[in-house]
Amino acid sequence: VDLSVKANGGNTTTSTMYGLMHEDINNSGDGGMYAELIRNRAFQGSAKYPVSLDAWSPVGSATLSLKQLTQPLSSALPTSMNVATTAKKGKVGFANSGYWGMDVKVQKYTGSFYVRGAYEGKFTASLQSNLTGQVFGSVDVESESVSNGWTQHNFTLIPFKNAPNSNNSLVITFDAAGVQGGSLDFNLISLFPPTYKNRANGMRVDIMEALAELKPKFLRLPGGNMLEGNTLPTFWKWNETIGPLKDRPGFPGVWGYEQTNGLGIIEYMHWCDDLGLEPIVAVWSGVALDGSYLPQSRIQEAVQFALDEIEFLTGDAKTTRWGAVRASLGYPAPWKIKYVELGNEDWLAGAPAAYEAYKQYRLPALVSAFQKNYPDIQLIASPSIFDNITIPAGVAGDYHPYLTPDEFVANYNKFDHISKQNLTLIGECASVHPNGGTAWNGNLMPYPWWGGSVGEAIFLIGAERNADRLIGATYAPGMRNMNRWQWSVTQIQLAADPKLTTRSTSFYTWKLLGNTPLAKTLPVTAATAGNNSLYYVAGVSDAGTGVFKAAVYNSTAPVPVNVQFEGVDKNTQATLTVLTGPADPYGYNDPFTQKNVVKETVTTVKADKDGGFGFSLPALSVAVLEVDDN
Ligand code: AHR
Repeated sequence: VDLSVKANGGNTTTSTMYGLMHEDINNSGDGGMYAELIRNRAFQGSAKYPVSLDAWSPVGSATLSLKQLTQPLSSALPTSMNVATTAKKGKVGFANSGYWGMDVKVQKYTGSFYVRGAYEGKFTASLQSNLTGQVFGSVDVESESVSNGWTQHNFTLIPFKNAPNSNNSLVITFDAAGVQGGSLDFNLISLFPPTYKNRANGMRVDIMEALAELKPKFLRLPGGNMLEGNTLPTFWKWNETIGPLKDRPGFPGVWGYEQTNGLGIIEYMHWCDDLGLEPIVAVWSGVALDGSYLPQSRIQEAVQFALDEIEFLTGDAKTTRWGAVRASLGYPAPWKIKYVELGNEDWLAGAPAAYEAYKQYRLPALVSAFQKNYPDIQLIASPSIFDNITIPAGVAGDYHPYLTPDEFVANYNKFDHISKQNLTLIGECASVHPNGGTAWNGNLMPYPWWGGSVGEAIFLIGAERNADRLIGATYAPGMRNMNRWQWSVTQIQLAADPKLTTRSTSFYTWKLLGNTPLAKTLPVTAATAGNNSLYYVAGVSDAGTGVFKAAVYNSTAPVPVNVQFEGVDKNTQATLTVLTGPADPYGYNDPFTQKNVVKETVTTVKADKDGGFGFSLPALSVAVLEVDDN
């Protein structure tokens, strides 16, 4: 295939082409990127997920039970754990097995717990093997506990030894002889390893480092069904995710577990700050997954809740109510919010009546309130122009392709004809079913797989050709804890042991595309008859040098390519990065074997006498050629 790339004439692209989307699915928040090691740390629950002693077990002669005391730790955390003993001496206590294990290394762990009850003596916090009982480190904490109130105890613990595996627990014991009244009550028992950028209440280092490798530019927060909640009264309430952890009640998540709300809206903002991401804040649009939605007479409740959320993030600390609340929590400086999304997948949630209501009054009410109060914010409707809706002028749309690889390839031209008025976010995207698969009637694939990843890449390359009318694109869902998950096709797989953090085949394709951003596209003409297997885009980087991205699909043989950039002289050098997969297009990166089936080959290509870069791209490959900056 002979291609010539013009020096001028393309479009300026979005500056946020690739990003991230987060919702707590698959324990990707609690038990995922949120670094808290203690599962069920505050005995949170709801009508949907009753409170329990999950992950807790007694030590010694202790008996554990849940109590709703008349004087709870806080109104947000009404349930606590009573640890009773009839012993007159000896160590008693409790253990927590974490989010299916705990990674124990010689590093600083920061812990705390609240106790109520008269106790004279010491508590001992230790990290121990569940298999052998071996103690890897422990620390004594002097009791300040009293009978008539809750006292927080803080400790740091540095193990003297790395544990050989993650099958470990935190154990807290105390001396039965020092307990008056036969029991002590505990709540909000927390333990953090070092976090990314040392944030208090922060994120797992290895996961944030993996995300940083993608060089993302935005975060859609929180995306997905989590925003909508299961029922109208139980949608995701941003104002219950702020402030001290003891004031966060938790949230009956939509993916089968109660969420702690430890990973709240301020933590999302820190995530954006730490990775340099543009926040896309999704606000609730008055609908729930059970199909219920606010009647027109109550829609202002959702509107005000959304306006308050944005005021909380952006309002002046001195002159706005919610800005002052933010400042009182220790964050006087407002954040800048450029994008607000109005709902999540409203064409699906409770359809069709709820969608009708979205079109008739839910979306218009939100749009008019935001345009009045925040005229500089780019609004995004949760459907796209492909979802049977006329989106109000000036408002962007959100498109969520979960397709087969063939369908992605067929959608290479999807955005060729959208107008500048149809600005679009690809707010969720993944190959989830094999070609010819049973689509949504069948199971999702077990992991992202190479053929699926190439299909996505072709769709994304097509999107990049039209990136003057796109906000950006993100894979979804981002992560899965292999111990408890609901959705199998995720970009990263994880478990308690960071060694199991696995970058999927799609991680590598999205990384390559995200690491080679185009500032501007350039027109490409094919000098020879087109090849149906090669999909491409050309443009220039921020530095003004030529970039060519391509992928090969449906070919049994390598495709020879010659790309000539107008104005590029002979002997100019370019770097060619080619990703190829395993012989089996269904091959995937298995977190249990740690073998990466994606092969990256980097070579230098020299321009020929006509300034053309010649190379060959294997069948089922994704490649980027970057002309060297000289
Ligand atoms: O990404 C998983 C789910 O897919 C999201 O929660 C929802 O928005 C979509 O249907």
